[in-house]
Amino acid sequence: MHRNGTCLLSVESIGAYPRADCFGKVVLRTDRNIIILCWPRAVRQIRSEFQQVVLSKMKLLHSRTRSVSLVAIILLVLLVVAGIVLLGQSTTPAASATPSPIFSPAHASIGQAVKEFFWIRPTPVQPIQYTHKVHVQQNGMKCTECHVGAEVGPQATIPGVGICMTCHEDTATDKPEIQKLTAYYNRGEDIPWQRVYGFPPISHVRFNHAPHVRGNKVDCLTCHGDIPNMTTAQRVVNQTMGWCVDCHREKKVSDDCMTCHY
Ligand code: HEC
Ligand code: HEC
Ligand code: HEC
Ligand code: HEC
Ligand code: HEC
Repeated sequence: MHRNGTCLLSVESIGAYPRADCFGKVVLRTDRNIIILCWPRAVRQIRSEFQQVVLSKMKLLHSRTRSVSLVAIILLVLLVVAGIVLLGQSTTPAASATPSPIFSPAHASIGQAVKEFFWIRPTPVQPIQYTHKVHVQQNGMKCTECHVGAEVGPQATIPGVGICMTCHEDTATDKPEIQKLTAYYNRGEDIPWQRVYGFPPISHVRFNHAPHVRGNKVDCLTCHGDIPNMTTAQRVVNQTMGWCVDCHREKKVSDDCMTCHY
């Protein structure tokens, strides 16, 4: 592994030494290997933590040069192109007859794949101007009255339109937003809320609300910001891997790769 460039980690070696952060992108994943394009910070960190322990177990793709940044850019471009070609192949009908065992994530379009690769996420625009402030601050509702899954399972869940209607059948029915809400309900449709938080499939991340929320171990606001003063939820907490791992280490929770990845 080098200052910048690609590193080939075998699944066993990652599992064997779980204390390194890797701020990189998985560009290719097979049964036994994960090829990760590493950012400089990640490589420094991984190098220092991994070096004595698993270096011998890792097969390294060296990028031997001193003009590191130029090579990094070239590599990046090459890898993106390679990624696009791979993604392109995986969406052709010929290849999709049997799912390829080599490369998993499917994307609707190449544009989407590229966006995902660079963590470009559009700001969500919600179909109804829902307001957390009015419900939580002014009407004293608790988060888990609506997000009923948070205490019991992986997903907090967004309340269905039927839950809204338990109140809005006769509350604020003169307001345009509530009339939109009622129209969804009458058509038997659920409201197509846009996702605010979450990880792309390519990150292979598994998050679970219940262990965090149960017994008030971690407050909702720690991970989602000042929701009680928001209208629709905004992504104000940057939920990166470093953010997860820092807290896990601080609270002495497992930071094994497989705790959070699949
Ligand atoms: C330890 C951090 C953490 C805590 C505490 C936390 N969340 Fe989350 N929440 C996340 C992450 C990470 C995601 C994205 C997970 C994903 O999509 O896989 C998320 C997603 C969500 C979502 C949308 C997707 C879903 O799971 O249905 C809602 C709604 C949500 N959280 C509400 C809450 C509420 C309400 C609480 C408190 C009861 C809470 N969260 C506590 C980290 C947290
Ligand atoms: C426990 C009762 C209750 C539930 C459940 C509830 N609301 Fe409300 N909601 C209220 C009250 C009370 C107000 C304030 C009404 C007012 O200002 O006249 C309000 C206000 C609103 C407003 C602002 C209306 C405006 O333009 O001033 C919107 C939008 C809204 N609710 C959407 C929803 C949605 C969407 C849901 C379901 C996810 C929901 N509500 C569930 C009680 C509830
Ligand atoms: C009356 C029901 C209601 C209550 C109470 C409520 N929410 Fe929400 N929440 C919603 C609805 C509806 C959405 C989807 C619209 C949006 O994104 O704002 C949502 C969205 C969210 C999201 C973004 C989910 C995503 O897409 O990733 C988070 C995070 C969240 N709520 C956290 C909270 C927290 C924390 C509280 C308590 C302080 C809370 N909510 C209280 C109804 C509610
Ligand atoms: C603010 C602190 C904090 C943050 C941020 C946080 N966690 Fe946690 N996490 C905890 C604590 C505390 C527990 C242990 C709860 C317990 O004792 O059961 C936990 C437990 C878990 C577990 C269950 C572990 C087990 O052994 O069962 C998973 C999975 C997990 N976290 C994933 C994540 C992921 C993924 C993220 C980032 C998206 C994240 N966590 C962010 C504090 C945090
Ligand atoms: C406490 C949870 C947690 C642990 C432990 C963890 N990760 Fe992550 N990892 C994440 C989250 C969350 C993301 C997604 C971050 C984002 O989308 O910004 C991520 C992203 C990644 C990515 C980038 C994937 C992509 O293409 O988006 C790589 C590579 C990675 N992790 C490797 C590792 C390795 C190797 C280990 C063990 C040394 C590890 N992770 C341990 C939570 C964790």
